[in-house]
Amino acid sequence: MRKSLFRLMCLMGLACSSMASALALTIRPTSSISIIPQPKELVEGQGSFTLTARTPLLAQGDSALTIARFFADKLNASTGFNLRAIASKAPRRGAITLRIDPKLPLGVEGYTLSASSQGITVTGRTGQGLYYGMQTLLQLLPPTIESSTKISGVTWRIPAVSIKDEPTFEYRGALVDVCRHFLTVDEVKKHIDLLSMFKINRMHWHLTEDQGWRIEIKKYPRLTIVGSKRIEGDGSVYGGFYTQEQVRDIVKYASDRFVTVIPEIELPGHAMGAIASYPELTCFPQRRVYEVRNLWGIEQDVYCPGKETTFKFIQDVLDEVLPLFPSEYVHIGGDECPKIRWKECPDCQRRIKEEGLKNEEELQSYTIRRAQKMLAKHGKKLIGWDEILEGGLAPSATVMSWRGEDGGIKAANMGHDVIMTPGSGGLYIDHYQGDSKIEPVAICCYASLEKVYSYNPIPAAIAPDKRHHIKGAQANLWAEYLYTTDIMQYRAFPRVIALAEATWTPQDRKDYKSFERRLNGAYIRLDQHKVNYHIPLPEQPLPGSKASASLNFVAFTDTTSLTLQTSRPITIVYTTDGSEPTAESSRYTAPIKVSESQVIKVASVLPSGRLSRVRAITFDKQSYSPAVSLSSPTPGLCTQTSIGDYYRASELSAVTNWVEGVAKTTQELRPDRVTNHMDEIKRKAVIGEGYIKIPEDGCYVFSTNLDQMYLDGELFIDNTDEVPKFSRHDKSRALSAGWHKVKFIFIGAVRGGFPTYWDDAKVEYRNLKDGKFTEVTAEMLAH
Ligand code: ACM
Ligand code: ZN
Repeated sequence: MRKSLFRLMCLMGLACSSMASALALTIRPTSSISIIPQPKELVEGQGSFTLTARTPLLAQGDSALTIARFFADKLNASTGFNLRAIASKAPRRGAITLRIDPKLPLGVEGYTLSASSQGITVTGRTGQGLYYGMQTLLQLLPPTIESSTKISGVTWRIPAVSIKDEPTFEYRGALVDVCRHFLTVDEVKKHIDLLSMFKINRMHWHLTEDQGWRIEIKKYPRLTIVGSKRIEGDGSVYGGFYTQEQVRDIVKYASDRFVTVIPEIELPGHAMGAIASYPELTCFPQRRVYEVRNLWGIEQDVYCPGKETTFKFIQDVLDEVLPLFPSEYVHIGGDECPKIRWKECPDCQRRIKEEGLKNEEELQSYTIRRAQKMLAKHGKKLIGWDEILEGGLAPSATVMSWRGEDGGIKAANMGHDVIMTPGSGGLYIDHYQGDSKIEPVAICCYASLEKVYSYNPIPAAIAPDKRHHIKGAQANLWAEYLYTTDIMQYRAFPRVIALAEATWTPQDRKDYKSFERRLNGAYIRLDQHKVNYHIPLPEQPLPGSKASASLNFVAFTDTTSLTLQTSRPITIVYTTDGSEPTAESSRYTAPIKVSESQVIKVASVLPSGRLSRVRAITFDKQSYSPAVSLSSPTPGLCTQTSIGDYYRASELSAVTNWVEGVAKTTQELRPDRVTNHMDEIKRKAVIGEGYIKIPEDGCYVFSTNLDQMYLDGELFIDNTDEVPKFSRHDKSRALSAGWHKVKFIFIGAVRGGFPTYWDDAKVEYRNLKDGKFTEVTAEMLAH
């Protein structure tokens, strides 16, 4: 079976490479043509063209020659050929001909591609159109064409096809937030490569924030000396910035791939990177020591638009930034600007009076209008988040609608251009795409691949004569919880690819089932670039529900079973002998019966043979842990609280300054709430001890965002070093009805930008066999 599959792969021109020994990972065929985004018109022909070491790459005209050279380099890397781009006026039999024809009856990004056994011609209306035609040609070749090293033994066959293609929307964007977590120059370039493969043509580069200023400004060196660094909750220094030379390099790299980089220089809020460097930029420079924010969320202290010196600073910054970016559009933020300081600032109030403004919203609008004038001096146009509608929209501003679609609809109806990026439409791709119990921690919410794919940038509610104002859409990848570049890619892909099709392909050509099939080819292309894309994990459903409540430690007393589901269709494989699953392991088809203690390892497997992360689910056969009798239970837990900068529960053994008390509920184990800054409170650690009353004999799952939970004297849940925003260490235990000893530990700390003081200290439980999670109530606690 394996051998014949291998031969079939060779026949189909797929990788029958030198990696025969790594057969489990070799690439299996995906059926037929798999282009993403789906072209507007595609007609399959008969036969095919085979790219060989002797295939000429002919280019008509200088611009076509530049693009031909770009693709010759790319083809040579994976094929090992030495193809050269040749300037030539006439197409030739057996050649790939690249042309630019300004009269092509398609939009500026349009192209035609015709492939037959006689040769291939790709014609772009512009260089950009030709580039996209060539990207399509790459997608007609076997996916290993994307390899950066030579792949032997592949027949580089291109099926006969005739394509006429152009995008539905001119703006097809991806936001990259390097402020919360930085990307190196090479990482940004790699991301641009990936975006351009799928014809995304805008990278919105979020460069300044409360959590860091990331672009060199020569006139204000402290912006990078001070503003690019923050001290994290664990005391480490996090930072990074781009020199202007690096910015130019990235912008040129993107431009060579027809990606326009749109910088975002945020104002008047989200400005702590600048304020920490130059406190005079805010309303009350002396009020406190300003530091680059090491918590996620929004800073209350913002630029002071009452002072003329603030505008001088903004002007100076823009004077340095704008020449680095050829983009006609520049993003100035405008979102989430608290007005609380402006209300009490004499300078801001004077400005309001002098300019005849009604209120602080109009002061924000005044600020945006001044920024727009600064941009206009450089011939640039302004984009802002939809808050720029508040207090009056600056003339000719383009609105990025993120808080749903209403802002976009309103702006379009006023005659302004709009880019749609609503979280409600799935375009916040920092949201979860699987069960929060097992996925890497994310900010919140759920944006499935299908939701992103299904997004139609034209809202139904918009008047037909205003639809042309909707320029396109963008997927926003905010980086608070993107702790590594691997996680960044995991969140971006494949959802960015869904956005590419949602914005390129006509609505009536979109087909999610077909997209899912074509994605299997795209995954193999991403593999060549070593991209850590998301593969849906096997998840456990909540009994009687479609929701997932995955659990890595399942207690049972007699027999039980393992039911699995995935957030989108994919094969699941598993082992029960402790070995790591492979693509050839048993396939999950029905709930797996479990009668003895064992570890079941589960993974999802793509048609290519690539596996998801493996989950090890421990099944532990237990007898009911006995309850204790309490002669006179007193409500609540005994607490010990210590003031101090603790980070881990293990630090508490040396602590002596405990103060005793009682917590009626687990929520009270978190002693304070932080609304903005850690200096609002004294940091504490709290230990709560006592007993929990279990209603009936059963196996119970516990879930908590506290640091640790002990049950019947044993460490049961350990969230040490986690960002405990959502519980990721749920665990179960067989318990007899009655009182069981518990201990909870709360550590007040900032972990990866998340202060444990933000969310309620929660302990939830459910009966494994049928229960939904409910919170442990005051009645269940005693000491
Ligand atoms: C935003 O997500 N604050 C634009
Ligand atoms: Zn002010």
